[in-house]
Amino acid sequence: MKKVLSIVSLCVCLAVILTGCAAAGTTGTAPSGQDGGSQKKLVMATNAEFPPYEYYEGSEVVGIDAELAKAIADKLGMELTIEDMAFDSIIASVQTGKADVGIAGMTVTEDRLQNVSFSTPYTESRQVVILKEDSDIASVEDLTGKTIGVQLGTTGDIFAEDIENATLERYNKGMEAVQSLNQGKVDAVIIDMMPAKVFVEQNEGLKILDEDFAVEEYAIAVAKDNTELLDKINAALEELKSSGELQKIIDKYISAQ
Ligand code: ARG
Repeated sequence: MKKVLSIVSLCVCLAVILTGCAAAGTTGTAPSGQDGGSQKKLVMATNAEFPPYEYYEGSEVVGIDAELAKAIADKLGMELTIEDMAFDSIIASVQTGKADVGIAGMTVTEDRLQNVSFSTPYTESRQVVILKEDSDIASVEDLTGKTIGVQLGTTGDIFAEDIENATLERYNKGMEAVQSLNQGKVDAVIIDMMPAKVFVEQNEGLKILDEDFAVEEYAIAVAKDNTELLDKINAALEELKSSGELQKIIDKYISAQ
């Protein structure tokens, strides 16, 4: 398990370094502003099953990522459109130009960097294990040989694949994995920390394993050839960071930590 952890950390480190290089290699700091150019719409691909980053309030997609995207679109003088889809379709839709950006609590990984570029990271996260309160699993090591629920195509999925003799149950929504845990169909769910907190609050009898997992960083996915948009997004992100606006958006959705 230790080995698995270090491999994941290595991937994250590599990913961060590569993103850094990609950002450094682009053409300077294009000022963000009302110069949307030919492109007026900013189409965001997401998977709105991931509170507090993206989820439905009525028919509207809200959350940290939705507000961040809106703030970026405003800075770029563009109009935001949100397209909700399966998480594992997001990269492809950015690659093919169906969407301009993928913003979905998406972790920067080496694998994904083969297919898309990532902005500078906008927040940190980590994977956690959700368990039944009375579970006999007391550490990540105890997951060996267990049945584990994950959301398809996520870093939780990738992580669980490396757990020895584990049986994986992959769901389209993180919440479905949590329901399976409730019903005793899986022994544990591996998912990102903040959604895990929300799901545990919403479901009685669950807890989060108190053990640190690999740290991950979330960033915005952009098509590899769209360096102009990537530059603009990075400039907008920089402004949102230094003005404290990004932190304000995060704090609005993540209160007591
Ligand atoms: N951070 C994880 C990943 O990148 C999970 C993201 C899931 N996001 C979502 N909107 N469902 O794989």
